[in-house]
Amino acid sequence: MLARQVQAESTEAAPLTPAYASRALQSPVSRYRLPKDGMEPSLAYQLIHDELQLDGNPELNLASFVTTWMEPEADRLMAESAGRNYVDADEYPRTTEIHNRCVNILADLFHAPEAVGTATVGSSEAIHLAGLALKWRWRARREARGLPGTRPNIVMGANVQVCWEKFARYFEVEPRYVPLREPRYVLGVEEAVGLVDENTIAVVAILGSTYTGEYEPVEELDRALSELAAKGGPDVPIHVDGASGGFVAPFSTPDLRWDFRLDRVRSINVSGHKYGLVYPGVGWALWRTAEDLPDELVFHVNYLGADQPTFNLNFSRGASQILAQYYNFLRLGRSGYSQVIGALSDTASYLTEQLSATGDFQILSKPGTLPVVCFGLSGDPGFTVFDVSAHLRARGWIVPAYTLAPDASDVSVLRIVVREGLSRDMADLLLGDLSATVAALTGMARSSQQDGTGAVEHCSRHARGRALGTPRAAEHSRHPTQKPGTQGVC
Ligand SMILES: Cc1ncc(COP(=O)(O)O)c(C=O)c1O
Repeated sequence: MLARQVQAESTEAAPLTPAYASRALQSPVSRYRLPKDGMEPSLAYQLIHDELQLDGNPELNLASFVTTWMEPEADRLMAESAGRNYVDADEYPRTTEIHNRCVNILADLFHAPEAVGTATVGSSEAIHLAGLALKWRWRARREARGLPGTRPNIVMGANVQVCWEKFARYFEVEPRYVPLREPRYVLGVEEAVGLVDENTIAVVAILGSTYTGEYEPVEELDRALSELAAKGGPDVPIHVDGASGGFVAPFSTPDLRWDFRLDRVRSINVSGHKYGLVYPGVGWALWRTAEDLPDELVFHVNYLGADQPTFNLNFSRGASQILAQYYNFLRLGRSGYSQVIGALSDTASYLTEQLSATGDFQILSKPGTLPVVCFGLSGDPGFTVFDVSAHLRARGWIVPAYTLAPDASDVSVLRIVVREGLSRDMADLLLGDLSATVAALTGMARSSQQDGTGAVEHCSRHARGRALGTPRAAEHSRHPTQKPGTQGVC
């Protein structure tokens, strides 16, 4: 997050004046400047604790894929290890060993023959590392053939998460986006293969689209790229963005072939802090074999003791999330993860059934993918998904409304990410509030029609998107290399 400096004379810079100042604080506390003197620990805690009450309630935050609850034993372990730096392998050799065990467990889960891997801060860092390895490998292949360096490109659906756009821009790789075509809201294999050339470092396949939760057809892509190579075309690897699905598919659809069982899949990223069930920020990057990770990208440092190979964008980082990941591996095992993911998928199916039974909504998410319910409004009820989201927010629920990626950005949807904590009871309460919201908005739409003022005055700054099942205003196309409209979808 980028922050700007607040000027001392601005109204935002007014000092904090807590209500209990008369007892505990004698003078106001500066907000944006280091206070002249310190304060008691309990008071510093209380000030921050109180301010955080104004944040959204993490339990009702159905927008995020990121874990908001862990067991008390995991909390204890994380608090005990808060001061442990992951990078100090010589000082904390057991932490390094636990990290290595996690990489091994994931390599086995993803059917790797002889993988290498590393913990990262999240999938974004993992994606940047994997992208760099792909770019270096592409360059080495060209140099080996005596070909001049031209601009590398990467092919991906327009529905990629923003971290892929960042990768392309920061590391100077041309992004080639496969536009969505209603009702295809994920990568089209034929279209992706059509964009590939000698300078393509990889095609990205997402195992669970951030927008709809749908899996991209990795096996079909693998087959199509192999056919292309067999006909004398370019030989292009696949990276699987398994940010969410990497911890879902192995447990809910173990026979689905999306991982290193497919030859072209050379690297995979997964977020430990999503369905790996760890608090933010841990992710993992895995390469099929050591050959897929060029040596030049690995740095060796000796100033912490023994030789340490690292491939990360950061140096220091907390070790507690990595230890918490291992806690979950031991605590849950394969059967425990299967049980949790099974329960979340059941809740997602229940919500899907109940929502479609109302007739008010159309469901975009697909069964057998992420435990996510993505839905739009049926027809044109006179209000939008943005109104629904704003009304739910007033009831405490955070259910985001957004438009899909190009060229389906005129379709607007809501999304519920089912995580641990959204029990069946809570799901029923949410359904009740959704139904009350729709009734209230329908009433408002009717009365504004009777007044002749048209539709509900929209609660949000967003433009009214097209409801599902209503015709598109105008078909528009986009050049594949054009940047899609970036969403705040995560
Ligand atoms: C498909 C996909 N890739 C990458 C990311 C980025 O993951 P992280 O937040 O772990 O950096 C997300 C986040 O939601 C995602 O959904």
